[in-house]
Amino acid sequence: MVTLHVVGREDAGAFAADRILSRAAVGTLSALGVATGSSAEPVYAALAPHPDAGRLLAGTTAYALDEYVGLGPDHPDSYRATLTRQYVAPLGLDPARLRTPDGAAADPDAEAARYEAELRARGGVDLQLLGIGANGHIGFNEPGADLAGGAHVVTLAERTRRDNARFFARPDLVPHRALTQGIGTILRATEIVLLAFGEAKADALARALEGPRTAAVPASVLPGHPAVTVLADAAAASRLTRVGAA
Ligand code: F6R
Repeated sequence: MVTLHVVGREDAGAFAADRILSRAAVGTLSALGVATGSSAEPVYAALAPHPDAGRLLAGTTAYALDEYVGLGPDHPDSYRATLTRQYVAPLGLDPARLRTPDGAAADPDAEAARYEAELRARGGVDLQLLGIGANGHIGFNEPGADLAGGAHVVTLAERTRRDNARFFARPDLVPHRALTQGIGTILRATEIVLLAFGEAKADALARALEGPRTAAVPASVLPGHPAVTVLADAAAASRLTRVGAA
């Protein structure tokens, strides 16, 4: 079931941060699924200055959705380094509380299996933050993905490499492959909060929330999950017709 809130970026960040901290405060957030990229940034920006966030999240383990193959934890463009800068360091958390697949692993397929086993042992995260790709991906589950699969290695769609080139010094430095939680992994989360901002996400969001469940739009699995909150700005929500705004 999807609940939609049409809100600006900053309010969306505050809303998600509040949800995270309220759950941490009542002891129902031992595992938080964290996303990387522009959409989740307002959440980390809202958590960072919060006076209680570091204390409340000190006992929560964060699990990254994905990591680039070939970028080790010390590479500044790795998702581990990005999440360390945006989430772990500002809150003064123990770096061991951030779990990520190792992009520098010698055997990426084995590393994906290890990460899936770790998440499975956990039983799924309590709250998963998600962004959505302009092509409808969640995590790095690109169109055509297995809608029930576990963590695995993917070849990034050219659209995704182009969209993410803004985070790299040069477009050709964007890796071609990534380790990602599978859609089955993501759907084990008890609660999902999806953030989407800007016109570039409007089509993907409409197809995800109002179209048929299809591997062509990996995010179209979300309406089948029992507890999804979508925080979208007016531009990203502009092509939604049936899902009413709360
Ligand atoms: C990031 C991730 C991706 C992004 C998506 C949107 O960990 O898994 O699915 O959430 O590509 O990216 P942004 O938010 O940069 O538009």
